[in-house]
Amino acid sequence: MRHLLGIDDLSREDIERFLERAHYYTEALFEGSWNKTLLSDRVILHLFFEHSTRTLTSFEIAAKRLGAEVVNWNPETSSLSKGENFIDTIDTLCAMRPDAIVMRHADYGAPKFVAGRAGCPIINGGDSWRAHPTQALLDALTLRQHFGKIEGLCVTLIGDIAHSRVATSNIELLRKMGAKLRIIAPAILMPEKRPEGVEAFNTLEEGLPHSDVVMTLRLQKERMDRALISSDGEYFREFGLTTSLLDRLAPKAMVMDPGPLVRGVQMEDEVAEDPRRSLILKQVANGIPTRMAVLDILMTGKAA
Ligand code: NCD
Repeated sequence: MRHLLGIDDLSREDIERFLERAHYYTEALFEGSWNKTLLSDRVILHLFFEHSTRTLTSFEIAAKRLGAEVVNWNPETSSLSKGENFIDTIDTLCAMRPDAIVMRHADYGAPKFVAGRAGCPIINGGDSWRAHPTQALLDALTLRQHFGKIEGLCVTLIGDIAHSRVATSNIELLRKMGAKLRIIAPAILMPEKRPEGVEAFNTLEEGLPHSDVVMTLRLQKERMDRALISSDGEYFREFGLTTSLLDRLAPKAMVMDPGPLVRGVQMEDEVAEDPRRSLILKQVANGIPTRMAVLDILMTGKAA
């Protein structure tokens, strides 16, 4: 049995396998030609301890497109609120023998911990600030569809790199696939240890030129122990994307954001809605074939 806990566990060949299967499902969804009963006798448990729109919904749609049943456990209405601890909650749910668990938790390593106790594949749908492997896979699928390749692309991540699990997983995946990586952030939102092989800048003026892709990242205020940025307005003035700035510094760059997009902070509306520039809704759409590929590979025993 294999789990999907993080990009750091995957080889380039593993990543290729997920991307090829995701590409297959992109086309199959378009043609209506996939196996709709592949997981028809399976039950998938969603254990989301943190809020989610895109990840939770697209995992559910992906599961249903493959014929699986989904149980959405809700922390707010669970026995956690009656004083049951995390380990007992996990052991209780695992005793019901789901066929896979998709989980998101604010504490580092929670999916790995559950993988050690559960008898089924665990899929990480967001691990603290540290890992979000299916987001990195769907972003890679989006890049490959748009550019036809990942190798050699200059991808610039802007924003709260220090607290972003999307940044961590994307940097790991894109580095393995041969992209050139840059990060742009205020000094206070830079990671403590600069990721190997990544160029770091503190201004858009320095970091944007020659980027093929710019990916903005939300300020993860829930992961900051105090306000690290004095105001959203000030952040936008220094790090927000505008059409005029992109026209001047990186006119050919495509814009990505994993969502949730906070308009007027990461970028102005015109950038988000520009069909020539924005890949944001393409990323969302690619969540479905990517997560179908992950469920297929991990739940049908095709994992290496
Ligand atoms: C991100 C997450 O939850 O990690 N969103 C997502 O899954 N698409 C990013 C965020 O919350 O900022």
